[in-house]
Amino acid sequence: MSMKLATNSLEHYWMPFTANRDFKAHPRLLVKGKGVYYWSHEGKQILDGSSGLFCCALGHGREEIARAVYEQILELDYSPPFQEAHPGQFELARLVSQLTPDGIDRVFFANSGSEAVDTAIKVALAYHRARGEGARMRFVSRERAYHGVNIGGTSLSGLVKNREAFGAGIGAVAHMRHTWLPENRFTKGQPEHGADLADDLERIVGLYGADTIAACFVEPIAGSTGALVPPKGYLERLRAICDRHGILLVFDEVICGFGRLGHPFGAQAFGVVPDIMTMAKGITNGNQPMGAVAVKGSVYDAIVESAPEGAVEFFHGYTYSGHPAACAAGIATLQIYERDRVFERAAALTPHFLDALFSLSDVPAITDIRGFGLLGGIDLASDGVPGRRGYDAHKKLYEAGLYVKMTGDAILVAPPLVCEPDHVDRMVALLRQVLSTY
Ligand SMILES: Cc1ncc(COP(=O)(O)O)c(C=O)c1O
Repeated sequence: MSMKLATNSLEHYWMPFTANRDFKAHPRLLVKGKGVYYWSHEGKQILDGSSGLFCCALGHGREEIARAVYEQILELDYSPPFQEAHPGQFELARLVSQLTPDGIDRVFFANSGSEAVDTAIKVALAYHRARGEGARMRFVSRERAYHGVNIGGTSLSGLVKNREAFGAGIGAVAHMRHTWLPENRFTKGQPEHGADLADDLERIVGLYGADTIAACFVEPIAGSTGALVPPKGYLERLRAICDRHGILLVFDEVICGFGRLGHPFGAQAFGVVPDIMTMAKGITNGNQPMGAVAVKGSVYDAIVESAPEGAVEFFHGYTYSGHPAACAAGIATLQIYERDRVFERAAALTPHFLDALFSLSDVPAITDIRGFGLLGGIDLASDGVPGRRGYDAHKKLYEAGLYVKMTGDAILVAPPLVCEPDHVDRMVALLRQVLSTY
């Protein structure tokens, strides 16, 4: 397959999280996706090493999802989500609640991970207020966290580039330390050291007072920053501290959810149940924009039952909350996950994936490798300017036929859950080929 740039001009589109000027001088357009491959505008076949952006768990070009969306739009293209509903919203919420841990069974729809995070912030505030604890307005997050880019998520963010241009945000957010420790380098699975980093939450409680803190947000594995796997015992400790002080524990499962870790969610993978979970991406295989917040029945009940009968209980929602086409994509996706035992398949492929990834440990430019489930992070030694080598590697890997998501000098490897061992081997061979040049 060979194609030209099927566009007349690159100048009008302002690309997100992109070096626009460099890209427009050397464009990389993807024009087709099928299975675990993309094709570039130059006709090059490119292995998808990051499932798009961690969303296309089932690979690309899935006919059943496409057909479900097409048929839904013909049947009912749009329905207002406030005071009316359509059947798909109830069905997708039911299917999601079958995958979440017991007790987390009420589902609110948004359209992205960022919207899910900002929704969860508002749920936490409304929950405490409904219970007469409206002074709980502070949040706790973590260095190196990524919780999307809306103003709430930006305030929770632990990544300086995502914060520094955008002012003070929502203010009352305290950050725990991140969990990367030099002594844990090259650990496969959960590292031994660092459970005590959870005690940062206790210190924050000591500083601000528990009765001012609404919720603690963490990604089970800090994904975008480079796949920081939680130390053994760390999430359990956070859970215990939250319980002790009436703080809601929120797991941002936007990357970890829907089988990436060989379980439905990070909550099950690590055996720790939060109070609120945010999710997106894999919920529709990335085929329609969709995000969701799942909460404990007790959180839902507190908010809903505090409002007068007949009144709106939670003054929040989006024009496209639970859009019919997104729900159709979500239902079709979740049905395939179940029918094809996709999460079990991810678990079965995990040892091969991690062994292959860690076989790169001898590459001189690699300073750390981490991994859990089908999610891996590789750190490259900086060339002096943070992120420059990572960006260079990204372009060279693309040229060599592998797409991977980079954050700074970290490479994030997250193959589609349906890929074969051969695909993993090919990804790792391409990584070795390119990274050995540094
Ligand atoms: C943990 C986490 N939360 C939130 C988001 C934001 O999701 P979105 O880009 O769909 O807004 C992401 C995106 O990668 C994420 O990894």
